[in-house]
Amino acid sequence: MTALVLAVCGGLLVYGNRENGEEPRTSMRIGVLLYRGDDTFISTLRGAIEEQAKEYELQTGIKVTLDIMDAKGSQLTQDSQADRLISLECDALCVNMVDRSAASGVIDKAMEAGIPIVFFNREPVEEDMNRWDKLYYVGADPRESAVLQGQILVNAYQENPRTLDENGDGLVSYVLLEGESSHQDSLIRTEQSIQTLKDGGVPIERITGGIANWERSQASALMEQWLSEYPGEIELVIANNDDMALGAIDAMERNGVLTGTIQVVGIDGTPAGLEAIRAGKLLGTVESDRQAYAEAIFETARQLVMGETVTREKYSWSPQQVVVN
Ligand code: GAL
Repeated sequence: MTALVLAVCGGLLVYGNRENGEEPRTSMRIGVLLYRGDDTFISTLRGAIEEQAKEYELQTGIKVTLDIMDAKGSQLTQDSQADRLISLECDALCVNMVDRSAASGVIDKAMEAGIPIVFFNREPVEEDMNRWDKLYYVGADPRESAVLQGQILVNAYQENPRTLDENGDGLVSYVLLEGESSHQDSLIRTEQSIQTLKDGGVPIERITGGIANWERSQASALMEQWLSEYPGEIELVIANNDDMALGAIDAMERNGVLTGTIQVVGIDGTPAGLEAIRAGKLLGTVESDRQAYAEAIFETARQLVMGETVTREKYSWSPQQVVVN
């Protein structure tokens, strides 16, 4: 029988050849770099990755050390965190880039040390991804999220136009809350969501829009401003994620907007987003399957560490589903 021997960072043998007296791997160290630990969606994903690692440990007895670091929105901080993890001789890195166009620096160092990288949620440019066969990406397809979000609205309109066209003037007047301008998801989600509404025959009119960087408080401030600039005109808020949708709802509640006069849709299916749907405050969301997402990240990293054949493609997309009240 041929046993597998693979050299990884620091020249360690990850899977030994028993016939030659080498022991099979009993532990692994995986570095996880987060762009911002206080981002709601990222923090729930982090929890799911930790669960995956624990479960794997329980099932196999192989100890998994996850070194999780928060760059707090600074690429400079993230670069030095990557340096530290590489010098700690971790076996794989899972990276949620702060600046997705700046992945080449981390890739250079990881390649030199022979450490594979699974990027997630913030997609590096294709040119960087193609530099090495040990670079993977796990995400949620932004086109799919947007089409599903648009369909929530098309269905609501088809069932009863007045759900979205509250004043019955034949037009659904909407505002848009967008994520970071540099994030691949923002532009695609906005475009495809609007396109789905148009394709579905919903007559729409854009009042205004703004970038709230995925953040509840920024979205709340923008919505507050729009409510006073366009009193009684807004019928729909299309948000690129749940946190911004919730920010809009916060502003509506502060301003005494009656439930049902302005509809709000989000994306992510965060616990707070799902709760708002149950409470009838949010019309719907597109839930990202966190378990499947985290499993794809952890399993890809683990397979790379173990020298197993990676069972996912270079780009892997986690499943999403519509949630409405
Ligand atoms: C998006 C997600 C946002 C935010 C962002 C961070 O995919 O919908 O809520 O977490 O990623 O990169």
